[in-house]
Amino acid sequence: MTEIADYKQAFIRNNWYAAAWRREIDTRPLARTILGERLALFPTKEGGIGALKDQCPHRLAPLSMGECIDGGLRCGYHGLLFNASGACINVPGQDFIPTTAKVKSYPVRERLGLVWVWMGDAEPDESRLPSIPQHGEPGWALLQDGYQHHAANYRIEIENLMDPAHTTYLHKQTIGNPAAKDVPVQVERNERSISAFRWMERTPPSPFDKQSRDFGDGLVDRMVSFSFELPGVSFVEVCSMPTGLDKTEDNKNLGLRTLSYKFLTPEDERHTHFFWLHLRNHRLDDTAYEQQLRAGLEKTYVEDNQVASAIQIEQERCGKRQFTGLKIDHAPTMALRLLDTMIADEQATAVA
Ligand SMILES: [Fe+2]
Repeated sequence: MTEIADYKQAFIRNNWYAAAWRREIDTRPLARTILGERLALFPTKEGGIGALKDQCPHRLAPLSMGECIDGGLRCGYHGLLFNASGACINVPGQDFIPTTAKVKSYPVRERLGLVWVWMGDAEPDESRLPSIPQHGEPGWALLQDGYQHHAANYRIEIENLMDPAHTTYLHKQTIGNPAAKDVPVQVERNERSISAFRWMERTPPSPFDKQSRDFGDGLVDRMVSFSFELPGVSFVEVCSMPTGLDKTEDNKNLGLRTLSYKFLTPEDERHTHFFWLHLRNHRLDDTAYEQQLRAGLEKTYVEDNQVASAIQIEQERCGKRQFTGLKIDHAPTMALRLLDTMIADEQATAVA
């Protein structure tokens, strides 16, 4: 039995977290809370993005209530102007700028159409920014700008995303496959990631697959792979390919392949920012299909949030996370154990 008190407030800080889609930051500052810290994101005059603590050091007014002007972010209360480094560069009504007139700034990068913020005190590690080889490549269509606000601790979300078994029951209308419940899951662990996958040989295509291609009465070999790069990147690959072929990359591309990414950013201990994007190798220019696909994915993630947020409430009500263990918990449990190890390592390093 696991107590929920064990994991409250436990976040990995030295990490790039998805903070916003780039298109969300236009001419107005954007307020976003990450790991319980309130940030103001704003466009810089150089065309980049600044991320500051959302609190003017004068009267603590949220800087996100101000405006993007004069090359910085100007507080909406008394007009103090801050640059992307958090330095105050103008105080209306006086020439002298107090040394205490400064605000915490966060390192920012742009990648995959998203704005990423480094939340820790250690030097930002560029190698830890997510990359997707197929992103922007010919032969792949991209669905992006996906966002949902989920009312659950990110650990509940990790368990959900590392758990192929739930799709049979929770997502009957979309990605669920009735055959899935009987198929074993193989699990692999790497330094910062866990993968769970399975091949289902000679199985009926899913409802999604049938919408995408006419398989007739035929069967497919279908792979579902769930990976999680801790603490926040989920990657789900689904491939339905002709039966009987070797499982090479080229042969997989003969079938229907989808690559589904979710970027989880803890807002606080009870809420998670859920960014998503989706790549596919079929029906590349089919707008109607794309709308249908987006709606189906949104529905799937709404279903996940419905159960995750209900679990969050129930865990808080009784103070427990789980009363029994099952075989299907293998991958989610490995993921959370690895997360705990990473958090402990980071905290030990910070103390040393
Ligand atoms: Fe799900």
